[in-house]
Amino acid sequence: MKQKNYRPRKLIVSSLTQKYIMAAAGIFLMLFLIMHLATNLLLIVGDDGKAFDKAVKFLTQNPLIKVMEYVLFAGFIIHIFIGVILEVINYRARPVKYKEPLRSEASPFSKYMIHSGIIIFVFFVIHLFHFFFVRLGFVEIPEIALHEKDFYNMAILTFTNPLYSAIYLISFVFLGFHLKHAFQSAFQTFGLHHNKYNMFIKVVATIYALVISIGFAIIPIYFLFFFE
Ligand code: HEM
Repeated sequence: MKQKNYRPRKLIVSSLTQKYIMAAAGIFLMLFLIMHLATNLLLIVGDDGKAFDKAVKFLTQNPLIKVMEYVLFAGFIIHIFIGVILEVINYRARPVKYKEPLRSEASPFSKYMIHSGIIIFVFFVIHLFHFFFVRLGFVEIPEIALHEKDFYNMAILTFTNPLYSAIYLISFVFLGFHLKHAFQSAFQTFGLHHNKYNMFIKVVATIYALVISIGFAIIPIYFLFFFE
């Protein structure tokens, strides 16, 4: 019987390259999240936002950070775009039962990367409307804020609203799952998967995902329950 060839060689090669680019963009985004979390935790140090405002002033005036902002958004777009393409390629290749040795080693979260990715994307768009788009002038400055960079007061406005806090908290759960697998997957993509280090990578991935998701979650919880 004639067999259909669903995956021409050219496509396999290019999808591997895409995976490298996606992993590189993902690593960059993971590094950004550490910096973003560190800055945002200044919101809750109890000094009425003074340290946070200073950090915002520095970050929004620094020319290098301004350039990095473009790189960051390019990274986001590349990561999402390739993620969707790879999902479509995988979906279309499903009728053929080919062996995927890395799948069995991967966590169950690996099957749901596109789903958690979509949820994070929806969160991300909502999030930009709360802060970043105000600075850019796309969204009106809320009454509570003194100017377009007064993110401390915007944070109070956002997180004292239970609906928004709930949306943020739910999104951070999915972000945690997404990051846990993403971290391990990036190492696999770059060929750093070996029985010797796999356990270590898994532990570091779990710690990273927990620190980021719990770290971000502390902020809405603080404003919702402990802020006066
Ligand atoms: C409670 C959690 C969070 C708070 C309080 C927060 C706060 C902020 C603030 C104040 C800005 C505006 C910064 C500016 O315009 O200079 C911002 C922008 C941004 N946030 Fe968040 N963020 C949170 C979580 C997240 C998460 C989980 C992600 C990624 C999935 C994220 C990605 C971004 C990006 C890409 C920008 C625009 C780039 C930038 O201005 O630095 N944020 N966020």
